[in-house]
Amino acid sequence: MTLEVQSSPKTNAEPCAMIIFGASGDLTRRKLMPALYSLALQRRLPDGFCVIGSARSRMTDEMFRERMRAAASEFSPGGLRDERVWEDFARRLYYVSGAYEDPEAYQQLSEFMAKFEREHGTRGNRIFYLSTPPDLYGPIIRQMAAAGLAGRANRSEGWTRIVIEKPFGSDLETAKKLNREVHEVFDENQVYRIDHYLGKETVQNILVFRFGNAIFEPIWNRRYVDHVQVVAAETVGVENRGGYYEKAGVLRDMFQNHLFQLLCLTAMEAPVAFAADAVHQEKLKVLQAVCPISPEGVNDFAVRGQYGEGMIGGRQVKAYRQEPDARPDSRTETYAALKLFIDSWRWQGVPFYLRSGKRLAKKVTEVAIQFKQPPLLLFKACPVDKLGPNVLVLRIHPEEGISLRFEVKVPGDEVCVSSMSLDFSYQEAFGSDPADAYETLLIDCMRGDATLFTRHDWIELSWRILDPVLKYWAEKEPQGFPNYPAGSWGPPEADAMIGRDGLQWRRP
Ligand SMILES: NC(=O)c1ccc[n+]([C@@H]2O[C@H](COP(=O)([O-])OP(=O)(O)OC[C@H]3O[C@@H](n4cnc5c(N)ncnc54)[C@H](OP(=O)(O)O)[C@@H]3O)[C@@H](O)[C@H]2O)c1
Repeated sequence: MTLEVQSSPKTNAEPCAMIIFGASGDLTRRKLMPALYSLALQRRLPDGFCVIGSARSRMTDEMFRERMRAAASEFSPGGLRDERVWEDFARRLYYVSGAYEDPEAYQQLSEFMAKFEREHGTRGNRIFYLSTPPDLYGPIIRQMAAAGLAGRANRSEGWTRIVIEKPFGSDLETAKKLNREVHEVFDENQVYRIDHYLGKETVQNILVFRFGNAIFEPIWNRRYVDHVQVVAAETVGVENRGGYYEKAGVLRDMFQNHLFQLLCLTAMEAPVAFAADAVHQEKLKVLQAVCPISPEGVNDFAVRGQYGEGMIGGRQVKAYRQEPDARPDSRTETYAALKLFIDSWRWQGVPFYLRSGKRLAKKVTEVAIQFKQPPLLLFKACPVDKLGPNVLVLRIHPEEGISLRFEVKVPGDEVCVSSMSLDFSYQEAFGSDPADAYETLLIDCMRGDATLFTRHDWIELSWRILDPVLKYWAEKEPQGFPNYPAGSWGPPEADAMIGRDGLQWRRP
């Protein structure tokens, strides 16, 4: 039997217009439009809601609607499930073409918006969504300000919010610069830096699991936890993102955002409320306490790798250096592992091992908390020389759930011990797949709830931790790239790093 306890209902999304810069791009097609259509199906969009797409490609409203219809058919779960809902939703989609460097385009957009705001009754409330190449974020914000589109929070005729896609900068300096550019025009409470991981049900569930149950928190610390492993492994290669990836690498693509978010949710103290500032403050404190990695320490605390050719799912795949847009002598890392310590009362001395890579053996994302061994091995006289450790696994992907491994006696005369686990699966318990992360985040933005978005200071601290590693790797030639075959669990150097602590990586 399950007991459902509702949290206090969230406030409703307010009427608003969403202006998407980059509306002809991949993210709009694969994520934003399917998420908005899904919200329309659930009748969760506010009254009068409308979308104004913008990009360079020339399109009429009708062409844009057709394109978005194809996108929703292909990428919404279950396709275009309700033709009438689609028709109603499509009538609220508009398109304005223009290049972002052209001031005229913003004037046009401004006039367009004023017209549609009147028609739709969106009360002047606007969400600007930056879904363009990241080097355009700064220039677009400047042009918006020049055209009077940026409006500070106290604009009398409605609110303005801006959603900024990842990546937010490519190192500490560029992230600071972008934050400065944003703050010249917007107040921080207007800014929603997106990391779609935070919109995932199971990621949010880390907080509910930790702080909605009394039994885990007393053991969630250095006295009982031996170490923590966070993994985000992918089987895919760089696919069609070779140009972007070649400049980014896995540390920028996965660690600065997703892995550090998981680290913070796992390690943070209880916030005073489940509200934006309180949660942001506690997450920030985790990063403030992470011991910096010095250039001399990089080889002890960080490992990089790049995949060579290999087999995935019985299929031969090419090496990273043979992927489209990758350089034949590329030094870009497609795998990284970090060992981090958090110098806090709770975590002092507990290593956190983080790893992520492409073309690994399995697609899996999880946080595993491994507990210490019992202080006394009572069963020495029996044929039990080693007990498996208790491990609590928070599974984020692909089967969302939680499992706890513990030791039990195998029936029989002798004392034999075996590992068993208690398992909770979202799918089994609740029947349906959790809502898409973008649905959650878009509706939160319409409500003005920034809890699941990222604050400026968190972003800068995350880059501060990674900067020394990025700099060191940029200066030093990597050894033996490619150093792991596609379909494996990464380079042997990563096994050696954790092996020096007498541990092994989990093989989920
Ligand atoms: N795709 C994903 O799954 C994903 C996931 C996470 C984050 N993101 C981030 O989201 C952003 C968008 O990604 P994407 O994959 O959608 O990129 P994309 O497919 O390359 O789309 C870029 C968009 O920007 C427009 N654009 C580029 N230069 C322009 C200019 N000078 N003036 C006006 N419009 C311009 C393009 O339209 P025109 O060519 O028609 O102008 C297009 O609509 C990126 O920052 C990316 O890092 C994407």
